[in-house]
Amino acid sequence: MTSRAVLCGCGAMARGWLKALQSADELKGGVELVGLVDLDRATAQALANEFGLDDVVIGTDLAAVLEQTQANMLFDVVVPSARAGVVATALRHGCHVLSEKPLATSLEEGAMLLQLAAETGRVHAVVQNRRFIAGIRRLRRAVEDGLIGELTGIHCDFFIGPHFGGFREAMDNVLLLDMAIHTFDAARFVSGKQPLSVYCVETNPSGSWYAHGAAANAIFRLSGDAVFTYRGSWCAEGRRTSWESAWRLVGSKGMLTWDGEGAFEATVAGAEPGLLRGFKALALPEAPFEDETHGHRSVISDFIRAVRDGTTPETVSTDNIKSLAMVLGAIESARTGLPIDISLQGN
Ligand SMILES: NC(=O)c1ccc[n+]([C@@H]2O[C@H](COP(=O)([O-])OP(=O)(O)OC[C@H]3O[C@@H](n4cnc5c(N)ncnc54)[C@H](O)[C@@H]3O)[C@@H](O)[C@H]2O)c1
Repeated sequence: MTSRAVLCGCGAMARGWLKALQSADELKGGVELVGLVDLDRATAQALANEFGLDDVVIGTDLAAVLEQTQANMLFDVVVPSARAGVVATALRHGCHVLSEKPLATSLEEGAMLLQLAAETGRVHAVVQNRRFIAGIRRLRRAVEDGLIGELTGIHCDFFIGPHFGGFREAMDNVLLLDMAIHTFDAARFVSGKQPLSVYCVETNPSGSWYAHGAAANAIFRLSGDAVFTYRGSWCAEGRRTSWESAWRLVGSKGMLTWDGEGAFEATVAGAEPGLLRGFKALALPEAPFEDETHGHRSVISDFIRAVRDGTTPETVSTDNIKSLAMVLGAIESARTGLPIDISLQGN
């Protein structure tokens, strides 16, 4: 059965959603876009014009558009501060909801939305598109296959200087809340481990063009005595890292590095005698499923399949809240100067 979807929040990211919806054959059949909502009507109208959506209902009041279109699905692409209100309205209206990240701006808000989704029996999932790419899938498979032995550490570097303008330059904890969640979520996925605690130092470095928190350095304890460290800055000018971060995985037998783009190297101990053993290079496995490597398109497909077939989406909110807990724990640690317990029930 084709779902009837309303997209709420018609800004920059909404274009990425519409491109995915219009370009992928597997999505075209599963969902019909019936409404566009934005606080600014002209913004919604401009998006409709750009994508040739002549027949959709356009409005500024989400509840009214959901009523008018009899939609059963919401695509939530609003700014994070508006998320909880928008998602709650849609769930109460009986819609399945796919939200942009972050799931919420606090754990209380997140828990409220999870409870509402459980009460209404709707599918509620979050877009973590940066885990649906070939590089991350390959790392995950290498870890699952035991290529470098038992995983003991994941280390990620993220240094970029984008000049966005807009809400990011005004918000608090901008790197942790708006970007680091992608790397935290991907590290949780790659490791297959549970985050237990975090210690974080967050700064707004000299020269930053953001209001708050453009840089962060965080150390996470993961289950199985593993660690995940993150060093990041969103105001680092000069030669940048990849948007996916630069990765080093350390295992009991060897190491795996990925520059976040095309360069991978997996090596285990060599046979040289003496102080250092040298190393032996290994082939890295390919991503197991090609259709899990298309970012937004893969996340939206996974969600639509879940609604249609009753499966659980990979980024279902009950799991994704663990990535949110990593971010909010890091923020709390930075505020208090103390390590913070982030193990959630059900871990
Ligand atoms: N997954 C990714 O890679 C990725 C990349 C960029 C942005 N995002 C996320 O997408 C979301 C939107 O980001 P953006 O860059 O498009 O922001 P944006 O500011 O360009 O657009 C947001 C739009 O939402 C509208 N809006 C705000 N409150 C609303 C409400 N209550 N009802 C209806 N419309 C409302 C605004 O008018 C605006 O047009 C954010 O959560 C952001 O974190 C995700």
